[in-house]
Amino acid sequence: MKKAKSKSSRPVPGGRKIAVQKMAEQKIAAVMARMPQPRIAIAIMAAGKGTRLKSQLPKVLHEVGGKALLEHVIAAAVRVVPAAHVYAIIGHDAERVRAATEYTGSKYVLQADQRGTGHALMVAQEALAGYDHVIVLSGDAPLITPETIGHLRNFHLEEQAAMTLLTADLDNPTGYGRVLRTSSRSAEVQAIVEEKAASAAQKKIHEINSGFYVFAVKELYANIGKLSNANVHSEYYLTDMAEVLRAARQRVVAWKTANANEVLGGNTRAELADLDHYLRMAKCRQLMDDGVTVFYPATCVIDADVQIAPDSVIEPYVQLLGKTRVGTACRVRSYSVIRDSEIGDGVIIRPGCVMEGARIANGAVIGPYSHLRPGSEIGEGAHLGNFVETKKIKLGRGSKANHLSYLGDAEIGAGVNIGAGTITCNYDGIRKNTTVIADHAFIGSDSTLVAPVRVGKGAYVGAASCITDDVPDDALAIGRARQVVKEGWVSARKAAKAK
Ligand code: UD1
Ligand code: CA
Repeated sequence: MKKAKSKSSRPVPGGRKIAVQKMAEQKIAAVMARMPQPRIAIAIMAAGKGTRLKSQLPKVLHEVGGKALLEHVIAAAVRVVPAAHVYAIIGHDAERVRAATEYTGSKYVLQADQRGTGHALMVAQEALAGYDHVIVLSGDAPLITPETIGHLRNFHLEEQAAMTLLTADLDNPTGYGRVLRTSSRSAEVQAIVEEKAASAAQKKIHEINSGFYVFAVKELYANIGKLSNANVHSEYYLTDMAEVLRAARQRVVAWKTANANEVLGGNTRAELADLDHYLRMAKCRQLMDDGVTVFYPATCVIDADVQIAPDSVIEPYVQLLGKTRVGTACRVRSYSVIRDSEIGDGVIIRPGCVMEGARIANGAVIGPYSHLRPGSEIGEGAHLGNFVETKKIKLGRGSKANHLSYLGDAEIGAGVNIGAGTITCNYDGIRKNTTVIADHAFIGSDSTLVAPVRVGKGAYVGAASCITDDVPDDALAIGRARQVVKEGWVSARKAAKAK
């Protein structure tokens, strides 16, 4: 390395100098690559019950921004180390927590009885034995970013510390552990005092312990046995490791992030609402940066994985959930709730639509008040209108069902007109049957189509028909009683009654 340095500083003509410098850099990189890299794991504390939420659901499964708290934390963790080195410490309702997060590929450590954050790390000793350092995250603080975790890790490695904590200045530090530094200018930490144990003077400290740490594994486990549970909750506090390690002449430092929001935890329902609001607003801002118009964003609920192409407009009070995708130049009008649906370009969703698992092709117009259930595929330029419910149907290009219909288990071609009040009778009490309506057919209003049944190409069904048999192409089917007219019936009846 030394040799390369002296070479590069030798005066050489421009081009050659750059080449020599590049060679030196490559050599350094090669040396670095051969140096043993520290083995780093991430442990996520997620075993707690969440007493303050007063819930049947374990705390880390409560959702903010459309995802469970723990899912957010794991998502950040796996961008710092591979999932195989991420260990979620679970305990309260462990199987439920595992089932909800297993898809991430993270590993699990069971903390069968939850005796504090220090105890959580005690039970993880065996799992972490093969690592040099462990980054500890709190499963209830979902705003943490991979960038901040990376900064914390780098600071810890540069400082060669036994324990590094992430801290932040909060305007309102109530409820958090406070950080006591050895001096205001030093990175070194004396101790962390929990809110409950803090003196009046200590409560005035605004620098809080985020609950995120990095530990040198060897030093952590050489000293963790010294933690005591002689406190109000009879718990082993991981925060006490600061004092324990200092007493063992180990280096304990803090790195303060300027992004104080990232450390916020969700201990109460009110805090969960704050976290949710933060994530929703961040999502809306991202969409706006990407060219989407979002009116009155504070009223919109848009999940993290939702995609919307530029020049689409989202009106107030819209919910776009799950894996929904919206194309360009669409307009989603107020009070629509759309989950896991794919919407093409130039689609108009009028107010009050509810859809789940639907696919809508370009230029279609939906609503107001349409209900599209899973498997609804709406063709290009098609229209679905007021109070139309669909389930598992294909509606062809340019077809229209504008009023008051139930269309389920149906294959409907292109250019079809479905009159107001049409119903596909898809269920015979045992199984679901299919209705086929071929291209350019015309279904008169208030018809019932008893499946399985087929209406042929270009065929007409008279209004108020009950169609039980197939209708051939180009035919007219009328399935209703003939009208009877009884002249003078009303006055004759009145006269009879008067007698
Ligand atoms: C903790 C810190 C506090 C810090 C705050 C930041 C301690 C003693 N205090 O307090 O200094 O300011 O986080 O948010 O650590 N957990 C387990 N097993 C247990 C207990 C807890 O896995 O036995 C998990 C919880 O599920 C939670 C996390 O650890 O995800 C933190 O526990 P919590 O009870 O929320 O600690 P705080 O009171 O917030
Ligand atoms: Ca907490």
